[in-house]
Formats: sequence, structure tokens, C-alpha cells
Amino acid sequence: MKTPIRVAITGAAGNIGYALAFRIAAGQMFGPDQPVILQMLELPLEKTQQALKGVAMELDDCAFPLLHGMVLTDDPKVAFRDASWCLLVGSKPRGPGMERADLLKDNGKIFISQGQVIDEVAGDDARIVVVGNPCNTNCMIAALQAKRLPRERFTAMVRLDENRAKTQLAQKAGVPVTAIDELYIYGNHSPTMFADFTHAKIDGKPATEVISDREWLETTFLPKIGKRGAEILNARGLSSAASAASALIDHVHDLVTPGKVHSVAVASDGSYDFSEGIWAGMPVRTTTPGSYEIVRSYEMSDFAKAKIKITNDELLGERETVKELIGSLLPLFPRVTYRGRTSPASRGRVSSSCRACPSSRCLYSSPSRR
Ligand SMILES: NC(=O)c1ccc[n+]([C@@H]2O[C@H](COP(=O)([O-])OP(=O)(O)OC[C@H]3O[C@@H](n4cnc5c(N)ncnc54)[C@H](O)[C@@H]3O)[C@@H](O)[C@H]2O)c1
Repeated sequence: MKTPIRVAITGAAGNIGYALAFRIAAGQMFGPDQPVILQMLELPLEKTQQALKGVAMELDDCAFPLLHGMVLTDDPKVAFRDASWCLLVGSKPRGPGMERADLLKDNGKIFISQGQVIDEVAGDDARIVVVGNPCNTNCMIAALQAKRLPRERFTAMVRLDENRAKTQLAQKAGVPVTAIDELYIYGNHSPTMFADFTHAKIDGKPATEVISDREWLETTFLPKIGKRGAEILNARGLSSAASAASALIDHVHDLVTPGKVHSVAVASDGSYDFSEGIWAGMPVRTTTPGSYEIVRSYEMSDFAKAKIKITNDELLGERETVKELIGSLLPLFPRVTYRGRTSPASRGRVSSSCRACPSSRCLYSSPSRR
């Protein structure tokens, strides 16, 4: 059996968190021989901490063989300490009448502080995935805080859009979803994203040959993927949760599986004419577990370039909105000077009371996990 890895989940008692934790503990993210310790962060409110306790009790009741420990906390330093994966799901939802710019600024503050703490206490091998919206820009904000961890370690999730797009094409063509290949998402996780049907394959043939109705592809398929989240919200009265959790399982699973090519929002290096320094969805190939290279080989048509420009402009607008915030905020947590591999603060981390828990501030201590 491998050594357990620590996986931090923020917003673990939320809708996505509830759908996610059980699948990680069941081995669907890291494989059937990789034990995990879940380090779950929630807001310091009695109600949310109680709900988090309930999630942990249910996880206990599943008796997952791979779940080697749980840490429940309201302290980001506890949640991220020594984590190999930091899954940033928790964020403030957009309230009634709230402007998108206000949401960007409010959530930006969360990702500034979490980015700083992650850089300070997470494992040397840490990888960070941002799901909380607006996830591309939140990811950029968190990555900008990092002095120790390279920015390539910070990715945002556009995999839900890829999965949605694959299903829509498969249903239109009357084929199983496994027949769809090379369908990647470019740009923002928002209605402006471009699901590139122009390079997609269906059973190895160009999707545009199998589905010759170009008008459907441009005017029905693309907007449907862009507005799918709103469609689900209208139908369910709640936003997508199980499908988002499933997409996060896919995102990380494929990032730890060399050879996989999949859609990930990464720091732009100018590929596909995205502006440098924004986080944009594009195809990446996993090289070694947790590392990847951008797949730059797709030639874009004028149509595709125009779509990419729209989503790039939106991302630039988001960066502009938070520019002041990033520029003016002082670090919210003191920095640790790293002389060796880890800070002194992150050594001696297993408390005597709970083998999974790095801190006496852990709010949960299951006798079964001591
Ligand atoms: N990228 C995607 O594809 C995608 C898809 C669906 C949803 N989302 C986003 O994921 C986020 C979570 O969605 P949800 O349905 O689980 O929402 P939710 O409101 O049900 O849960 C969010 C949880 O996060 C917690 N939280 C808020 N701020 C926190 C903080 N600073 N630290 C720790 N926890 C915090 C809340 O207490 C809550 O329990 C939202 O921003 C949503 O828009 C992204």
C-alpha cells in the first residue's frame, strides 16, 4: 500500500464538497491503491462546522479502506498543511442583485489569503485546483501569491464544460460519449468559453463531417454548453454539484495519469493567442503525475480565433477588475522564510491525539482514526 496523501478540500460541507469527498475516499480520483487523508475546510460558523461534522460522520460510516484520516477545520493553515492537492471549491455565491465585479472582488480576497497560506504550508509537491467561481481569475489571484510553488501548479477547472460538450455532440450524432475525442475547451469557465468542435472527432472522423449541420454547431451547440449551468440552476433550483464534483475527479485523475490530453485552465504563455498571464482553458497533455505540457498543435480557423478573442477579452476584463485588489492588498499572513524544503512550522506535524491531524485546532477527532 502506498503512503497516504493529504488532500485539502475547501467548502467541503457545500453541495460540490458533499458530492466530492466520498468519491475521493472511494479511490476514484487517485486510484484504488492510493490512501488519502482528507483535510476539510469550512467557514468558522457553527452551522457550517456542524454540517462538516455530519459529512465526516457519513464518511466514517462508509468504512472506505482508502480513507486513512480526516481533518476538519476552520483554519486554512490546518487544512492546507502538507497537502499534496488543494481543491479550492469554497467561495461566496453570487447573491441577488450582486454585480459580477463585486463577486470578483469578494472572492478575490478569499483566494489571496488562501494562495498565501498554501504557499506557506502546503507540501512541496502541492498542486492546486480552483473550482470556486470565477475560477479562472480566482486561480490567477491565488497563483500570484505564490513565491515557493511554481505557477504551473495552479490550474482551474473547465472540465465540466468539456464533459458537457462531449455529451451534447454524442447525443446529436447518436453515438456513445466514448466515441467523442479531441473536443477541448478554450478560455473562461463562463458562457464565452469556446468548445472547439472544429477539431473534434467522432469515431475518428471530423465531427463537422459526421454532424454536417454547421448552423446547429455554431448557434445551438455552443450556446447550450455556455448556458448549461444556468439551465441546470433553473431546473434544479440549485447549481450543478454532482457533475461539477465528477468533473473535478476527472480533472485530477487525468492530471495524475501520464499521456492523457484534456481541457485545463492554465497560465497562458501566449498559446492560441491568449494574453500572457491570464488563466485560460486549453488542451494539455499530462507528462508525469501532476505535471503537463500545453498541446499547441491545433491550427485555429478565423471562426475559432474570433471565439477565442471574445473569451480572452472577458478574462482580460476580469483581470482589470481585480487589478487594484491584487496590487494593493498586503499579505494577510506572515511569510515564512524557507531555508530547506519546508518551514519549521510545518514539521512535527502529527499531533498525539489524532494521527491524521496536524494541529490541536482540528475540530474533529474520530476514535476510529486515532
Ligand atoms: N468550475 C466549475 O466548473 C464550477 C461548476 C460548478 C460550480 N462551481 C463553483 O463552485 C463553488 C462551490 O459551489 P457549491 O455548489 O458547492 O456551493 P455551496 O454554496 O453549496 O458550497 C460552498 C461552500 O463553501 C464554503 N465556503 C465559502 N467561503 C469559504 C472559505 N473562504 N473557506 C472555506 N469554505 C468556504 C461555504 O460555507 C459552503 O459550504 C461556487 O463558486 C460555484 O460557482 C464551479
